[in-house]
Parts: sequence; C-alpha cells; structure tokens
Amino acid sequence: MSDAAVKDVIERELTAARRRSLALLEPLREDDLRRQHSPLMSPLVWDLAHIGNYEDQWLLRALGAAATRDGLDDVYDAFRHPRRDRPSLPLLAPAEATAYVAMVRDRVLDVLTRTELDESHPLLSRAFVYGMVVQHEHQHDETMLATLQLMEGDGYRPVAPPPPSVAGRVLPADVLVDGGPFVMGTDVEPWAYDNERPAHEVDVAPFRIDTVPVTNRAFAAFVADGGYREPRWWTAEGRAWVAEAGLVAPAFWEDDGAGGHVRNRFGWREEVPADEPVQHVCWYEADAYARWAGRRLPTEAEWEKAATWARAGRPTRYPWGDEPVTPARANLDGVAYRPAVVGAYPDGASAWGAEQMIGDVWEWTASDFEPYPGTRAHPYREYSEVFYGPGYKVLRGGSWATASVAIRGTFRNWDLPIRRQIFSGFRCAVDA
Ligand code: AVJ
Ligand code: FE
Repeated sequence: MSDAAVKDVIERELTAARRRSLALLEPLREDDLRRQHSPLMSPLVWDLAHIGNYEDQWLLRALGAAATRDGLDDVYDAFRHPRRDRPSLPLLAPAEATAYVAMVRDRVLDVLTRTELDESHPLLSRAFVYGMVVQHEHQHDETMLATLQLMEGDGYRPVAPPPPSVAGRVLPADVLVDGGPFVMGTDVEPWAYDNERPAHEVDVAPFRIDTVPVTNRAFAAFVADGGYREPRWWTAEGRAWVAEAGLVAPAFWEDDGAGGHVRNRFGWREEVPADEPVQHVCWYEADAYARWAGRRLPTEAEWEKAATWARAGRPTRYPWGDEPVTPARANLDGVAYRPAVVGAYPDGASAWGAEQMIGDVWEWTASDFEPYPGTRAHPYREYSEVFYGPGYKVLRGGSWATASVAIRGTFRNWDLPIRRQIFSGFRCAVDA
C-alpha cells in the first residue's frame, strides 16, 4: 500500500473509533458521565479524556509535536490512579473533555498529513503507533460498555438489532485438534501488540475443544447442581473467593423465584437466554464449571491453535482465514449489545470446526499472562510487561463489544481471576 492509502486507512479508523466513543456517551446525562457507577470502573468522563490524553502522548508528543494542553498527564495516568480513586481527581467536565479530545484529534490529523511513515522508525513502521491508538480507543469503548452494564437506575437502553439466530443446527459437542507443533504469536501482523510477538513454535498434545462457548443453559445446570457450594470443583483460591464475594451465579443473574434466572442487561430485564454463551463469569467460575463437567479450560496455546492453525503450515489471522471480519462471520463491534446464540456463525468456523472463537464472549484460558520467549516491551512497559506473571489469566477471542480492528487470532487480553464485569465466558477442552 502507498503511504497515501495507509494514511486513508488510519484516518478512517481514527474517525470510526471516535464516532463510536461519542455515540456510546451521547445518550447519557451529565451526571451519569461524571458519576462512578462501580468502584471497579472509572467515571465515564475519565475514560473519554484519557483516550484523548493517550492520543496526545503517542500521536503528537511522541512524533515531535507539542502537547495540546498541559497539566493533564497525571490525572489521566492509569498507573498513578487506580480506578477506585478516579472520581476524586480534578477531572475535566464532560464538555471540556469533549472539546479536548476533538482538539487533540484535529491536530493529529494535521500532523498525519505531514508525517512520513518511515519504515525504520519504531513507532511509524507499518503505522504501528496509529494502530495502537485506534485499538486503545476501542478498548476503552469496551470498558465503557462494561461500566454502562453496571449502571443503576433506568440503565442504559441501547437500541440494537438482534444478532443472527439459527434454527435446527446440530453441532458436535467438541472437535479434535491434532497434536504437533504450530506457530503461536506473530511477526507479521502490523498492529499486533508486543505481547503477541514474536512468532514461535509451540508443540501441543492432541486435544478436543468445545465447538462453541459454554451456554447459559449448561452453566445453569452447574448452578442448579449446587456447583457453587461443592468445594471439590473449586481451587483453594476459588473457594475462598466464592465465600468472600458470596458468589451464587454469574453476575447480573437473579433468581426468578421459579427455579430459573432473570438477568439485567443494560437496564432491560429478561429471562437468561439459554442458548447464548454464558457471560460475566470470573476465571474461578469457569475453572470450577470445567472441573464439574469432567473437563478443563484450554491453555492459550491450545486456544490459538484451534483458532488460527489452518494446517497449511502457517496461521491465519482469523479462524475462517485471512478474509476480513463480516457480520456473517463474527459478532463484534458492539453492534448487537449481546452475544449471539451458539451456532449462529457457521461461516466463522476454524479449520478444525470450532465456532465463535472470535466475538461473542472473551474466553478464559487456563494460562497465566506470561511473556513469549524473546519478546521485547514496545513501545512502553505499562501496556503488557508490568502485568506479566501468575496474577493475571489470559482471555482470548474478543467479545461482542470488541472492535474488529482490535481483535485477531493472536490477540491476548488478561485480567484478574476474580473479574467478571467484563464480557467474559469460556469453552472447555479435554485431552484427546
Ligand atoms: C489489554 C484490555 C487489559 O483495558 O486494561 C487500556 C488495555 N491499556 N489502556 C485494559 C489498555 C491501556 C488493557 N487490556
Ligand atoms: Fe488506557
């Protein structure tokens, strides 16, 4: 692609991300933008100005331009201020934050026209830093959706078209993935993060992996079987957390008084949809369910092989190949505001026959978030490096709320094993 064509893509993606951010926040009242809806989350107006401040740092200052406005770096530094403390910071008011992000963006587009996408520049090679900032804005949009799901009162009531449904497809419970080496991670994805690099060979033993994510129906059977109260399904830490947090079912589920559950979804109450992937479970719940089912969580290497290894001697970007995301292949981009029922994406199947690996729900894996051999922090340690270690578990595949430009077969997300306000589910595996 010529420089001009790459710049067109960048401008289009920056614009699309901003349109999404502003559309998400547009229906909210001033107070709902300023308030903290949960100690787990930032005030929404913090996310908004943080998006602009990050863009100012990476697409202006790191490329030699002046800051748009001084004095904001401390307030919007995620490391200096944990989410719980952010409401007490001197935050920009919603109107100021909106003006700030627009001002940053105007300057960014101006600098872009004058920037040579120099292949020897560590930030500009393959337009990496622009991809990083586009993905960052979308990641915060997904985080803001998690905040909106937590919002009390009338709630956030998006109008969304239903995701595709499916009738009468009978799926095998699981699919076999051959043992043997495959290539994990990437050297070629232009917008891959440091933690996805480098590509390296990993050998896995043969295994079976669920065709689709675990459904609400299946998870409800675990709940009904007393799964939360049966110590042998849980790790020691999981047991302790279930007791401390009083967990009895996935987040947002409530007893319907008739042996079933209703849930709150963005302010709507509805029966828990039996055929959708279970959402809002923490790693401990996923791990316990798998043990109850006589199975286990897949490692992230297994997950990636099942998703990307096309048996052609090289991995593909997505389970269905290298062709772009379309609405027929995956439920992404926050369009549906919910996962689709299992079986709704036959066109998204991997070479092994696993479905819905991209989109719908983030999938917990058995793996700790560890660095790949030979990886290097780039361009800053606080994206990945400071999180490596046994404290965080890896999630794969993106959710319905993830942007298609911010997901691929190699993408690694991570969170604490107790977190479940994110759009998290899982599928199981078993040794073959
Ligand atoms: C990769 C999703 C774990 O949201 O904490 C956002 C991404 N990094 N701002 C997060 C991120 C800096 C990160 N996750
Ligand atoms: Fe951030």
